[in-house]
Amino acid sequence: LPTDWIALLGGYLLGSVPFGLVLARLAGYGDIRKIGSGNIGATNVLRTGNKPLALAVLLLDSGKGAIAVLLARYALPDIMTPSVLAPALAGVAAVLGHNFPVWLGFKGGKGVATTLGTLIALSWPVGLSACATWLVVAMLFRYSSLAGILSLAAAPIFAQFVFGPAPILTLAALFLAILGWIRHHTNIRRLLKGEEPKIRQKKTAG
Ligand code: G3P
Repeated sequence: LPTDWIALLGGYLLGSVPFGLVLARLAGYGDIRKIGSGNIGATNVLRTGNKPLALAVLLLDSGKGAIAVLLARYALPDIMTPSVLAPALAGVAAVLGHNFPVWLGFKGGKGVATTLGTLIALSWPVGLSACATWLVVAMLFRYSSLAGILSLAAAPIFAQFVFGPAPILTLAALFLAILGWIRHHTNIRRLLKGEEPKIRQKKTAG
């Protein structure tokens, strides 16, 4: 049981590092929360027009989810009693850390990148299928948020095929999908009204 608590706390702390906020500030764009949608994720960092910076945020925000899972899977059992739950708890906690970071008054991101990184580390067939869904939807419709919510919704369906309906990974994917949809409620409203900004090819002010 202590293993699970360490996984939760460690995952949360890793996930709560707001790479978008930190990197945008370091790159001289000021507070990313004052740009575009105000979100701290890679999509909004892309609205600065700086693609490499957005890519770095994407990799770091997804990487922190994956690292949380891998640490719980490979590092924790060496020092504690092994737990089957720990990797899933660490991954879910990383997304919660990203979405609700204590350092930002619990006002964080929407969790798409961190969820995808977490899923890849929990089960690469599920994670990569979800990433592929993101890419296809983004290329077809050019809405990052739509790609996010559809790929998150697809993940528990993929997990269900790989693991069956009840196991922990399917439940974790389902939880992350519901959480992600809730975090995108303003995006969903904008999508329905036709007011959601598309991913631009060129530099944009957001
Ligand atoms: O991952 C967040 C993305 O799906 C939407 O971001 O900035 O357009 O609200 P944003």
